[in-house]
Amino acid sequence: PPPLTILGLESSCDDTAAALLRMEPDGPAQILSSVVLGQTALHAGFGGVVPEIAARAHAEKLDTCVREALMRAGMTLADVEAVAVTAGPGLIGGVIAGVMCAKGIAAGTGLPLVGVNHLAGHALTPRLTDQVAYPYLMLLVSGGHCQFLIVRGADDFTRLGGTIDDAPGEAFDKVARLLGLPQPGGPMVEREALSGDEARFRFPRPLLDRPGCDMSFSGLKTALLRARDTIVAENSGLTRQDRADLCAGFQASVRDVLAEKTRRALAAYLDDTPAQPVLAVAGGVAANATIRLGLETVASEIGARFVAPPLALCTDNAAMIAYAGGELLALGRRDDMTLVARPRWPL
Ligand code: KG4
Ligand code: ZN
Repeated sequence: PPPLTILGLESSCDDTAAALLRMEPDGPAQILSSVVLGQTALHAGFGGVVPEIAARAHAEKLDTCVREALMRAGMTLADVEAVAVTAGPGLIGGVIAGVMCAKGIAAGTGLPLVGVNHLAGHALTPRLTDQVAYPYLMLLVSGGHCQFLIVRGADDFTRLGGTIDDAPGEAFDKVARLLGLPQPGGPMVEREALSGDEARFRFPRPLLDRPGCDMSFSGLKTALLRARDTIVAENSGLTRQDRADLCAGFQASVRDVLAEKTRRALAAYLDDTPAQPVLAVAGGVAANATIRLGLETVASEIGARFVAPPLALCTDNAAMIAYAGGELLALGRRDDMTLVARPRWPL
């Protein structure tokens, strides 16, 4: 395929994003610009993302985002050759806003349009950043997702298992709330845990006694709640150290569960795969240094290369959507005005 300049759009959760990407036939793709407008401030005080507020903000900000991405790349729409947009899964109002924006651009310019699965965007990021070859093992760990995938192609994924309840990021966020820390909770809990003793509270390691790669994180948060209430009842409050120890204990438990399940997923992947095994991670939780170290250790045990994209590309962004769109277009995939926004869309 010839080189291609792709506009990507992302609006499935609480980030409005647009990016321009240059796909080269032989050689790394180049991010020409990547704009992410977060909505954290809009949802502060609600204890989570409010879908209606998110959808309105996406609808209001998408065109600004596109304009900004074009400006930063020194381009106009006339330089764009294809439009890729997240068509799900996600908060449906936001996904609809993105799909309608992309359809508008495609209708106005005649450019090819391709709908991208948000999870595929995350899952293909190691190819964008590190040119990782298929097939590789991906652990996707974010606020909304937690699953192991063998990534065999842009449209070819084998799911090995995942969470049966909360995603780890969601658990971090809930733990932060239980301890009076601000949102998003992951980075806050990680910071508190730095001065904590992970051995003081031994929280459960859910589902390790069961075979396979499925995980569960909601019980962990309940265990932490119980530990917190016991301390509060005994001492009529939490000290700084109590809080740090609770955070460290919780984080250690998530690390251990993810590490052990990754060990199993790697074994399944190696069974049917390659000389050059790769474990890649994506999603906001992959930013956690303790968790990352746990995963790196497991990868090195079996000689797999560990790939973690830079944080800005691990979390929600539109460059990954443009990239996934580019691979799909190269496979001959193309959508038209009948493209629908999907709240659920398993890979
Ligand atoms: O991938 P992401 O930006 O959004 C989606 O969920 O798609 O992930 C955000 C999640 C939040 O739950 C946040 O608390 C968590 O990732 N997170 C972390 C850390 N940084 C972000 N969790 C643990 N440790 C961190 N350092
Ligand atoms: Zn995401």
